[in-house]
Amino acid sequence: MKIILSAIAISLFVTGCATAAMQTDTGKMLVARLEEDFSSKGPATMERMLNQDEVQKACSAYPLDMPDEQMEALQASQLKTVKYPADGNYLGVWKEGEKIAQNGRGMQSSDQVKGTNGGNCYACHQLAKEEISFGNIGPSLYRYGKLKGDGEAVVKYTWAKIYNSQAFTACSNMPRFGHSEILTEKQIKDVMALLFDKNSPVNQ
Ligand code: HEC
Repeated sequence: MKIILSAIAISLFVTGCATAAMQTDTGKMLVARLEEDFSSKGPATMERMLNQDEVQKACSAYPLDMPDEQMEALQASQLKTVKYPADGNYLGVWKEGEKIAQNGRGMQSSDQVKGTNGGNCYACHQLAKEEISFGNIGPSLYRYGKLKGDGEAVVKYTWAKIYNSQAFTACSNMPRFGHSEILTEKQIKDVMALLFDKNSPVNQ
């Protein structure tokens, strides 16, 4: 688990550098170097590193000081990308959700293209109390459902946050799990159950 987490941290770091750096002369040199040394393998492609969408471009242009208006406009456009579950059922099976939260595999050079990915939630969040290995880039989600309840607004917000984190925090570190097709609708339901189910270890 730790080795996988650090591999992902490195690939996130490289991506961050490449995108922010592209704006400057030094950056252009670094990108040229990357193009020389890096070869695409499996799902880890050069294209994925360098091709930025609207939000990524804006976040590179303003790493620290994006004007509020632009930030709000980006968040609103990201919120429009969220697809809510077609059957109106937001919660799957928490036991499957725990496996997805623990699983740090996916989109690395050693993974299959379009293979089944994990969510790697523990890399950034505390969830179940029993798991003592977790990152803290994101807030603790321990007792998430117990503290927030399961009203329609909070359930829909949580779905949208997992589907596209940028809908609420432009330039968030959290992957856009639905939008970037990292997790399937079923997997997001299972992770939602981990957060909301009364029997889930998150809510004990
Ligand atoms: C690379 C780090 C990272 C990963 C991986 C990650 N998150 Fe997050 N998450 C964050 C950060 C940072 C925040 C704080 C808000 C923000 O900046 O977007 C956050 C916020 C959240 C929130 C909102 C909490 C609140 O009180 O409003 C939820 C829910 C959440 N994450 C769920 C998940 C789930 C479920 C997974 C796994 C499928 C996951 N996160 C994976 C970094 C991450």
